[in-house]
Amino acid sequence: MPEPASDAPPSVLISEAAIGRRVEELARQISRDYAGAGELVLIGVLRGAFVFLADLSRRLTVPCRVDFVALSSYGHGSTSGGAVRLVMDLRLNIAGNHVLVVEDIVDSGHTLAYLVAILQARHPASLKTCVLTRKAGRLETDVALDYVGFDIPDRWVVGYGLDYSDRFRTLPYIGVL
Ligand code: IMP
Ligand code: MG
Repeated sequence: MPEPASDAPPSVLISEAAIGRRVEELARQISRDYAGAGELVLIGVLRGAFVFLADLSRRLTVPCRVDFVALSSYGHGSTSGGAVRLVMDLRLNIAGNHVLVVEDIVDSGHTLAYLVAILQARHPASLKTCVLTRKAGRLETDVALDYVGFDIPDRWVVGYGLDYSDRFRTLPYIGVL
């Protein structure tokens, strides 16, 4: 059965302006931390991180390369689908490189922990994580979150790359249904 289409626009949790300000702050902090370290490899986690990565990367003042992985950890809608899968791998070889994983949201942390373990095994010079949003009180792993944009309540959020059944990704703000 098709899922019901929600007609009402999601209500604003984090405005476009607030996201912009925070992304700018994160970019400054990251640029400071990596200044003089050489090239940084940004790894975006498809599909949710594409908007955040685009905005963040263009504000960084350190030289970057950009690559993507696709992971799948949830089924349709907002239900957890259990195991994490690597659906698309990197094209770049990250051995010896400074790597920053860019992710839209951390809920239980299993998705990010899985990815970090895969990348760590490839011997990057360093590996850090940058997540735009973190759901309060939900983390079930000890994955290190080096840069966090916003702590948010335990609600299903959409927009700015985040989806509900592949919809709402292109909303300029983060909202709740
Ligand atoms: P985790 O493995 O439980 O940390 O889940 C992380 C992944 O679940 C994210 O990369 C998202 O794709 C998805 N996810 C978790 N919560 C939300 C949400 O509120 N909105 C949209 N996607 C979410
Ligand atoms: Mg994601």
